[in-house]
Amino acid sequence: MVTLVVEPPGRVASRVAGIVETYVASAPLPRLGLATGGTMLDVYETLIQHWREGRVDFSRSTAFLLDEYVGLDRQHAQSYRNVIRYTFTSHVDFRLGSVIGPDGIATDPVAEAHRYEQKLRAAPVGLQLLGIGRNGHIAFNEPGSHHDTKTRVVSLSPDTRRANSRFFHSLADVPTQAITQGISTILKAHHIVLVARGEGKARALEAALLGDVSRTVPGSALQGHSNVTVVADAAAARYLS
Ligand code: F6R
Repeated sequence: MVTLVVEPPGRVASRVAGIVETYVASAPLPRLGLATGGTMLDVYETLIQHWREGRVDFSRSTAFLLDEYVGLDRQHAQSYRNVIRYTFTSHVDFRLGSVIGPDGIATDPVAEAHRYEQKLRAAPVGLQLLGIGRNGHIAFNEPGSHHDTKTRVVSLSPDTRRANSRFFHSLADVPTQAITQGISTILKAHHIVLVARGEGKARALEAALLGDVSRTVPGSALQGHSNVTVVADAAAARYLS
C-alpha cells in the first residue's frame, strides 16, 4: 500500500487525476471504476479540464459504477448513473454505452445485481477510484458487511441515508435500498485509489489502514489488496503516522 499525503488539499484532485491519466494512456482498453460522492467532484472537474486541454482521451475507456440506488427512475438527477453523467462522463469523450452500472429500476434487483457481478468478474476493473464513508463504508458496504460479499441489494443504514439526504428534497426521498458492488468485487480491481479529504475522514482512514481487518470497518478489507494507493490531505491523514 502506498500512501500519498498531499498538501495543500486542493492538490489532491490533480494528484488523483494524474494517476487516472497515466492509467488511461497506458492500458490498451482502460477499464475505470468510478465512485460518486463529494470527494470525487473536483477529481472529475480536473479530468474534464485536462480533457479539454487535450491531455487525456477517454474514447477507448469503459467506466463501471460502484453502486446505484434502487427505485429512482431513469430521469432522476440523483441516480448515480445520472450523477456520473452530469459531473463527469457527458463532458468528455466516453463512447455511447461505455458507462455501465447496475440498473436500479430493474424489475428483479437481485437478478440485476447478479448480472452486474458476472460482468465485472468476466473482466475486472483496471483502476478503481474509491471514497470512504465516515463509518468506514466502501461503496454501500456498511459496517458488518462480510469481506467476501459480491454485488447485491443492500438496505441503507440510517446514517448513510441521513448523510445523502443533502442531495434530496427530504430524508423521506432518499431510497432505502441500493445495488452495490460487494467488497470482494471491489478487491478484484487491479489497482485501487482510495481518496480521502478532511478531518471528518481521519478516524475512518486510520481504522481502515491501521486497524484490525474486521467486518466492523469495511475499508479495512483494503489491507488485503496488493495494489492500493491512498491519496489523502493532511487532515484526513492526521492519525496515520
Ligand atoms: C459512492 C460511494 C460511497 C462514497 C462515500 C464517501 O459511489 O460508493 O461509498 O464513496 O460515501 O462519500 P463522500 O465522497 O461524499 O464523502
